[in-house]
Amino acid sequence: MASILPHGGILVNRIVDESKREEMLVAAADLRSLSISNWTISDLDLIGVGAFSPLTGFMNEADYQSVIEGMRLADGTVWSIPITLDVDAITATSLHIGETIALTGQDDGIIYGTLKVESIYEVDHDKEAIRVYKTNDKEHPGVKKLFERSTFYIGGPIYVLNRKQPSKFNEFYFDPEQTRQLFEQNGWKTIVGFQTRNPVHRAHEYIQKSAMEIVDALFLNPLVGETKSDDVPADVRMNSYLALLENYYPANRTFLGVFPAAMRYAGPREAIFHAIVRKNYGCTHFIVGRDHAGVGDFYGTYEAQEIFNNFTPEELEITPLFFEHSFYCLKCGNMASSKTCPHSKEDHMTLSGTKVRALLRDGKCPPPEFTRPEVAQILIEGMTEHVTS
Ligand code: ADX
Repeated sequence: MASILPHGGILVNRIVDESKREEMLVAAADLRSLSISNWTISDLDLIGVGAFSPLTGFMNEADYQSVIEGMRLADGTVWSIPITLDVDAITATSLHIGETIALTGQDDGIIYGTLKVESIYEVDHDKEAIRVYKTNDKEHPGVKKLFERSTFYIGGPIYVLNRKQPSKFNEFYFDPEQTRQLFEQNGWKTIVGFQTRNPVHRAHEYIQKSAMEIVDALFLNPLVGETKSDDVPADVRMNSYLALLENYYPANRTFLGVFPAAMRYAGPREAIFHAIVRKNYGCTHFIVGRDHAGVGDFYGTYEAQEIFNNFTPEELEITPLFFEHSFYCLKCGNMASSKTCPHSKEDHMTLSGTKVRALLRDGKCPPPEFTRPEVAQILIEGMTEHVTS
């Protein structure tokens, strides 16, 4: 196994063994059923495979309160994002503590798992928003989602009985147990995890490769769960990552696997969460650049780095690697950051996301100093397909 221990010490496994699955599914069909969204199915599965270790279920009230107040579970373990299950008020009043319920996909009626109700509680969304997202502004996509939920939550341990099959790119889905084994088989002792919800532009490549200079391998781990509608769709991004890896990365030191979680856009708190989850996948290091998991102007450029000061290296164990805002400098003739480049802003090539999207929509490649042409080509094609379909 990879040398770094999972968060909390043990890799959680709540996926029901094949030998017991049929029997449990039959029993679950007689249980009271709660309809769950795709986001919740994704959380359920990530708890099940141990990506969210040490969580064994959706948070009970004590863990929830402790996480939103102090970024720790009730037992003191560092945890920054609430992983919760909301139910409508009528369901909340009719459920009983100790009851086991079936969790059923709202789109397909499939029983994805069970939950033993340990806690039923009402929350204050305003407070949660301010603690977790640092704002209650509904323009923030994470806050908007939060306010769409019920204020009643239930918590308790889960079991996974069925797993959603990806419609595409199946070969890039790995559970933490598998990534840990693969890292081990490759003889990698130090692995840097890279979170992204975007195509990999030259700045991303620069910080990844700077990190690769000091570790054995890169785990490119793009988030492919729910994102906001103007983010580049995951299938287009996947094709762009493949083109980039094929042309510019050493195959024996890079590994691509998806992170099937929903994006919260919680900036600093999500950076801690992202790091912990990558530790569960077996990473020893984790990249945090500028405005990690941020959106709009809600967070300061380096807030997602500063938040790490709240924790000791021992309690996180995974080592964050911080990078300054990176860019191509025309005078240096290479990628740089303010740490390595003496020139002024006018010499730096920076393009806003809006400008890049406008270029791509017009079928034009952004400059190669910004995006590799192979990546740009795929984004242009992807954009046309998604617009016409
Ligand atoms: S995120 O929402 O998933 O964090 P994104 O995919 O843009 O967004 O970023 C992936 C990682 O690269 C994050 O750690 C982010 O901070 C970092 N990053 C993105 N662009 C830059 C840049 N120009 N300079 C330095 N770090 C960057």
